[in-house]
Amino acid sequence: MTLELRPVRPDFVTEVDGVDLSRPIDNTTKSAIWDAIDRYSVLVFHDQRLNDAQLRDFAAGFGPLEIGRSAARPGRRRLEIPQIGDISNLNEDHQVRDLHDRRRLDSLGNRLWHTDASYMPVPVVLGLLHAVTIPPPSPFGNGETEFADMRAAYDALPDPTKAALDDLVIEHDVFWSRGQIGFTEFPPGEREQYPPSPQRLVRLHPGSKRKALYLSAHASHVVGWPVADGRLLLVDLNTHATQPQFVYSHTWRVGDLVIWDNRCTMHRGRPHAEDQARDLRRATTLDTGSTLEQAA
Ligand code: OGA
Ligand code: MN
Repeated sequence: MTLELRPVRPDFVTEVDGVDLSRPIDNTTKSAIWDAIDRYSVLVFHDQRLNDAQLRDFAAGFGPLEIGRSAARPGRRRLEIPQIGDISNLNEDHQVRDLHDRRRLDSLGNRLWHTDASYMPVPVVLGLLHAVTIPPPSPFGNGETEFADMRAAYDALPDPTKAALDDLVIEHDVFWSRGQIGFTEFPPGEREQYPPSPQRLVRLHPGSKRKALYLSAHASHVVGWPVADGRLLLVDLNTHATQPQFVYSHTWRVGDLVIWDNRCTMHRGRPHAEDQARDLRRATTLDTGSTLEQAA
């Protein structure tokens, strides 16, 4: 099987043809996919039709899988497989959630630029998101997902700025990111279950040996600095890193499967018709160590 790549930009985002991801892939194909991830950070496959077990099995070939914050909660869930994250606005009975539904409001945190699970001591590597149902266009957006290239954003900084950032450590906290959109109603016990985690601000991406800014809506402040100074630095860096030249906007078609590398990208969801179903399924691979153990 030969992968055909159609890069969107020389080093960021490529479409990939020539492979059916619902069937087991051989090692040659898998390493070609890893090579493409290392170079382009974001891979777009069209016209795939995977059920949740197939998405889990494909993703598991790239690393151990995360069980996300929402799937870890007790109680009924819409999807059966805990390693499949429910990136939808649907409830356990497959109905569109009410505007004031707590889980909907929690998931709106995805509309802020972020990298997934950066509040965990050992964060995640790949996100694999598969589109099952896509809403019609709306005045505020069509539910696109945008990706920002954090290696290009790092490269574009002046050298003295790079040197001043290289050894900084940032505290990441999911309660801070949700607080930014006024969401504070966490289920009992979750604050204790997900304490803040320290992460390097600049990471060396192992597959490309390029440096990347590791930013996220969860990023709260700089460890050892006054909180206000750290927040202001993070505002400046987020503004820099999400300029149009670093951003790709993905317009979803049913059957798309997008893989991104959380170590060197940020992403965010865009608004959509809130009374219409939007159903995507996500598998996520775990890293093996803290970013603090990784040299920048
Ligand atoms: C995610 C995410 C954004 C979207 O799945 O991790 O942030 O567009 N999704 O649904
Ligand atoms: Mn996300």
